[in-house]
Amino acid sequence: MLTQAPKGTRDMLPQDAYMWQAVEAKMRALAARWGYREIRTPVFEHTELFLRGVGGTTDIVTKEMYTFLDKGERSITLKPEGTAGAVRAFIEGKLYNEALPCKMYYLNAPIFRYEKPQAGRLREHHQFGMECFGGKEPTVEAELINALMELLTDLGLQNLSVHINSIGCPDCRPKYHEKLKEYLGDRIKDMCPTCQERFEKNPLRILDCKEEKCKEIVKDAPAIIDCLCDDCKSHFERLQALLSAQGIPFAVDSRIVRGLDYYTKTVFEIIMQSGREGLALCGGGRYDGLVKELGGPETPAAGFGIGTERILMELRNANALPECPSITDVYVANLGAEMAAPAFTFCQNLRKNGVKADCDLAGRSLKAQFKFADKIGAKFVALVGGDEYERGVIKLRDMATKEEKEISLETAADEIAKMF
Ligand code: HAM
Repeated sequence: MLTQAPKGTRDMLPQDAYMWQAVEAKMRALAARWGYREIRTPVFEHTELFLRGVGGTTDIVTKEMYTFLDKGERSITLKPEGTAGAVRAFIEGKLYNEALPCKMYYLNAPIFRYEKPQAGRLREHHQFGMECFGGKEPTVEAELINALMELLTDLGLQNLSVHINSIGCPDCRPKYHEKLKEYLGDRIKDMCPTCQERFEKNPLRILDCKEEKCKEIVKDAPAIIDCLCDDCKSHFERLQALLSAQGIPFAVDSRIVRGLDYYTKTVFEIIMQSGREGLALCGGGRYDGLVKELGGPETPAAGFGIGTERILMELRNANALPECPSITDVYVANLGAEMAAPAFTFCQNLRKNGVKADCDLAGRSLKAQFKFADKIGAKFVALVGGDEYERGVIKLRDMATKEEKEISLETAADEIAKMF
């Protein structure tokens, strides 16, 4: 127990950090180009936020939240998704009084869901999300989908498919619910207990069931896009036109209904064609009612969330992980304990000159220092000591070619810095 991380959680070990940082750097650069600024919200929030925000009938709220009472008897929940916290902060910070649309992103926010752990499904994962408040036009969804496609292709992922759907608004969705219930009729008794439960509370989610017998029954169900009101229909058509004009291939997929209750109009997922069923790389959509629902002024909004672990999993499968940068370019070895202090000083000089440098911290012999330099992949070893040191020079060994040259100690840091 003591040396085992809790089930469904993963350490990011130092040797893997570069992958996360490479992906994060691309996310940050992308968000900046699209005009999104960073937001950080607490890891935990009042439970009520998610009950109201995410929805009381969703799996996330009913089965997956990490909820506990704090010492003041308040019900607290570890963030099970990023949108509700961003909306709460938007309202609390009165950002609706600032220039709108207000565009924000969160980077590797830890998200907690008590799920059955498996490949790509963790109990703690990290999300990059972009959220836009105050834009009612379909250009918002178009720019979000565009940003995602650019990010994923830039990272080296191919065979991506964009699946979009519209799940209507409070005007047209209830009418669709009736139509769907009418279609399901007696057949509901042959469906799984979850679908039976959803029949009254949230029939749309029946379309999302992964059970074979339920999938068979709903395959001929009426599609919600055929029941949209004029406003939702026109919004969805304009989004499709925008995506087509950008050359982004997409599929209209009536099975995409998403597992969170706040969506209105557009919902979308990006799926790897080679990926496992039910494991989208990314999900998002419009949530025009959520700011108001949580106590703010009526504000249209849309966004997406993407799991960094899933991106890294797909990059690994595609053999497209970022290249590992060197840890140390120059290892400064000392020729004996009496040279440890001058070697340390020289190492510090290299660092001040911008060189990735390291030196002995363990009191090792020269042979052991070389072995260590080799292990960490140092490109050069600078030798401090011996008669060279008395002559005011150091020896620099190229670890690949084994060539050696002498450099004046006075100018060495500067000269070596120019090599990188
Ligand atoms: P979501 O589809 O629940 O949406 O999650 C978004 C993404 O987070 C998924 O597509 C996946 O990459 C990742 N993810 C979700 N659950 C797990 C898990 N258990 N393990 C690993 N990765 C996971 C949301 O959370 C919405 N808040 C997205 C959104 C933002 N909609 C509008 N704005």
